[in-house]
Amino acid sequence: MVIFSVVGTKGGIGKTTLTANLSALTADMGLRVLMVDADIQASLTKYFQLRSDPRDGLTSVILNGRVAETAITPTMWDRLDIIVCDAPRRKFAGIETTDLEQFIQGRIDAPMILRRALRSPMIEDHYDLVFVDTPGAQGPLLYTAALAAHRLISPIMPETPSAREFRVGTIELLQKLDEAQALGISPGPLTAVLNRVGHTNDARQITDEIRTSYLDMKGLVTVAETIIPASVAYNEAATAQLPVHRLKRRDRVSPFDTMHELVWEMIPSLRGVYAGGYSEDGGE
Ligand SMILES: Nc1ncnc2c1ncn2[C@@H]1O[C@H](COP(=O)(O)OP(=O)(O)OP(=O)(O)O)[C@@H](O)[C@H]1O
Ligand SMILES: [Mg+2]
Repeated sequence: MVIFSVVGTKGGIGKTTLTANLSALTADMGLRVLMVDADIQASLTKYFQLRSDPRDGLTSVILNGRVAETAITPTMWDRLDIIVCDAPRRKFAGIETTDLEQFIQGRIDAPMILRRALRSPMIEDHYDLVFVDTPGAQGPLLYTAALAAHRLISPIMPETPSAREFRVGTIELLQKLDEAQALGISPGPLTAVLNRVGHTNDARQITDEIRTSYLDMKGLVTVAETIIPASVAYNEAATAQLPVHRLKRRDRVSPFDTMHELVWEMIPSLRGVYAGGYSEDGGE
């Protein structure tokens, strides 16, 4: 079981979109996937239709430090479950949502809460992959969600100010996460993924610049080869509550291909496996 947390220190860069699409595609490839909505905006919770009303969610996981079966809700897609962010609607043991960050902060074991809950036999036995969506601002919820992961993914938009902010924000975040070394926890390596790259962007040049600027980060940050173009498909898919690889569109670069490339790059053992479980060598 591998846990990916999708992080960033900026809002609106595509974290939720990426979390939802990577999760749904890998589930479609045949893996058992759990999404965790660790952002109190609860955008991931609303992304796909659920098979039933959630009985429980993130609040109970954070407060109890473990994932009860009732905290997991199946989505309408096969093999894809979610721990919803129920925080905005829930009062649990007298604690309201906005208090969730405060609650985490008040705990001595704050950085380990989600890590311990997700790296448990119950999750290990039931899932191959876990994708955690996180808030766009630094805080205890982002830290505990990021430290739960074996690997971090961070979308980055190609505009230069945004790229610069990304570097500063990412360094700050990684430095912060590094404080957990004192507790014996090493943050996972981070892969930056260029997202919403328009026709006018010289994507290759910007990618090279970003890649070079990360050379001094001792391999902690790598920039993915796969680039996600700007396409209304991502928005249309979200509106239709569909994973983007299922949307029928004729883009210059199809989101179907892009998302497959990205999954193959992140998880090389899946290379050649397509949605529907078909592999290039004809097997299933
Ligand atoms: N490759 C893309 N091309 C075009 N639009 C995109 C792309 N990726 C994401 N978007 C759009 O960008 C907007 C923001 O995306 P998203 O909600 O995933 O960002 P976020 O980082 O999760 O934001 P927040 O910080 O608020 O949680 C959405 O409208 C989404 O449809
Ligand atoms: Mg989001």
